[in-house]
Amino acid sequence: MKGVVLAGGTGSRLLPLTKVTNKHLLPVGRYPMIYHPLMRLRRAGITQIAVVTSPEHMGDVVNLLGSGRDLGLDLTFRVQDEPGGIAQAMALCENFVGGGPLVVFLGDNVLEDDITDDVAAFQAQLAQGGAAARVLLKEVHDPERYGVPRMEDGRIAEVIEKPDQPPSNYSVTGIYMYDSAVFDVVRGLHPSRRGEYEVSDVTNWYASRNLLSHGVLDGWWGDAGTLEGWHEANTLAEDLSYEELDA
Ligand code: DAU
Repeated sequence: MKGVVLAGGTGSRLLPLTKVTNKHLLPVGRYPMIYHPLMRLRRAGITQIAVVTSPEHMGDVVNLLGSGRDLGLDLTFRVQDEPGGIAQAMALCENFVGGGPLVVFLGDNVLEDDITDDVAAFQAQLAQGGAAARVLLKEVHDPERYGVPRMEDGRIAEVIEKPDQPPSNYSVTGIYMYDSAVFDVVRGLHPSRRGEYEVSDVTNWYASRNLLSHGVLDGWWGDAGTLEGWHEANTLAEDLSYEELDA
């Protein structure tokens, strides 16, 4: 299983903090933001990871992470020329992924939970055959800020991106598990009204075919992509440390 960490985009919601640096290099707790998704993937046994970022910031991201050796990772880098959406950024990793399943982690997501059990649940789902995807949900007080699941009989019937009237109090967090069919799904997408290739459209392809499973995070979770979210993530991650990095 390979990992993909998305660290492109403009970071415009964090200006001027992101005027000369990439959002994912800002601190969250004791670490640069991007360490959090990388270390959650490592904890789940996923060490071959592609990091996608913009041309402006690739140099700084590589300066920070290098080959990944010091983090116990084997990193590959991909440039997203323009921020055309999360699904577009994912698609850049097709050759890297090489026909197997993958875990996509948004670079601004920070969480307390170990995702090992969810990765195992997804692998079991794949072993049953056919196409499959899995997302992780978290109950939130402000679902309108996120992709929100509409549940039917305990399953996700649909994910609605930043709805005015959220159909549930859950956020679809930025951790997505897909089989290799995902790249064909992305090729079939059209840009949304905001001109982006949306990850929720990808997930909905699986949901509408009854191929989507989900887990619910127990611990805290934060999306550090806004000023409020970044402050919140810093508070939540204040005491978080990764013992792998002290070894
Ligand atoms: O954090 C969870 C939410 O993340 C989900 O609930 C939403 O469904 C999902 O669309 C996403 O919403 P955001 O508004 O937070 O997405 P944002 O544009 O901030 O992008 C999230 C990460 O993806 C960010 O860390 C950078 C990366 N990214 C984003 C874009 C648009 C790229 O690498 N390339 C891109 O073109």
